[in-house]
Amino acid sequence: MLSTVAQVYPVVWQEDRVLLIDQTRLPNEYIVVEISRYEDMARAIKTMIVRGAPAIGVAAAYGVYLGARAIQTSDRDQFLAQLETVAQELRETRPTAVNLFWAIARMLKTARQTIGPVEYLKETLLQTAKQINADDIQTCQAIGDHGVKALPTSPEKLRILTHCNAGALATAGYGTALGVVRSAWRDGRLERVYADETRPRLQGAKLTAWECVQEGIPVTLISDGMAAHCMKQGLIHAVVVGADRIAANGDAANKIGTYSVAIAAKAHNVPFFVAAPLSTIDFSLSDGSGIPIEERDPVEIYQVGDTRICSPGVEFYNPAFDVTPAELITAIVTEFGAFAPSELKPQLHEKQAV
Ligand code: MRU
Repeated sequence: MLSTVAQVYPVVWQEDRVLLIDQTRLPNEYIVVEISRYEDMARAIKTMIVRGAPAIGVAAAYGVYLGARAIQTSDRDQFLAQLETVAQELRETRPTAVNLFWAIARMLKTARQTIGPVEYLKETLLQTAKQINADDIQTCQAIGDHGVKALPTSPEKLRILTHCNAGALATAGYGTALGVVRSAWRDGRLERVYADETRPRLQGAKLTAWECVQEGIPVTLISDGMAAHCMKQGLIHAVVVGADRIAANGDAANKIGTYSVAIAAKAHNVPFFVAAPLSTIDFSLSDGSGIPIEERDPVEIYQVGDTRICSPGVEFYNPAFDVTPAELITAIVTEFGAFAPSELKPQLHEKQAV
């Protein structure tokens, strides 16, 4: 197991390339992958070397720049046409997290609106990707601080359950749900985290538990099926999760299994918070029924490590996300504050400028 890594920044621009922490190798190995071509960035997003909604948005923004850098024309129209091909390849990596599409749209808008030679457009694209990266860290810190204020005031020290990994690894740094946890820890409001292991890819066990250990935050790992039992025993005071896409009515897509946690929380009167930046809200969707749900390779469920865990002849279904209905959500915590799902559109739609 690894020794302490002080700060976790999963996507970093260095000189002329992007450095990604390989999240498929944690917690046993801390490997940094260098990305210099947009095709490699697309592959890294698809294979989940980089994952988590805001992190793949930041990665895709750099991907657009890497693609732009390689375009060999000084003709503006040809450049923009080829940039669209790059953007499309990046869009096709993962369908659910809207941050990916938001970041690509922002990069393309920058390219279209920048006046000047192609070389200047390229430089402006790099600056925009860096800005998206830097903004995300600040956004997560604001989410964390608003989240602490939204948490139950009693008891003083809370036991918070989370699902999947919505931490520094899933963002540019600090995290959304784990951002709330970090701020609560800083303010003396946290007793411990309960981390669902998060089948099938085990982001809770492999990533959330690792992040907590890095920071000395007490963490208890449970398997997904244990969450309701822990709530019944009075072990959990609040649930805080991230999101990949939130519809205008507050329905929120997050890692598969989140919906079951929300139902259990409702049944046990445990407040259920979704922490996410404004860029995760898709106001074009009136409710969660239109959110595209990624289906991944069934090998993720029929194999553990190198071992097949069920007999041949079994069929599989492997949706990577589910949608928690707004009525199960106590509040959605954004960088602008915490809102009841019904307040999202009136309060935040105007603020969302791509
Ligand atoms: O499939 P993943 O690991 O990319 O899924 C990640 C999640 O579901 C996170 O909870 C979500 O992206 C929020 S990250 C701040």
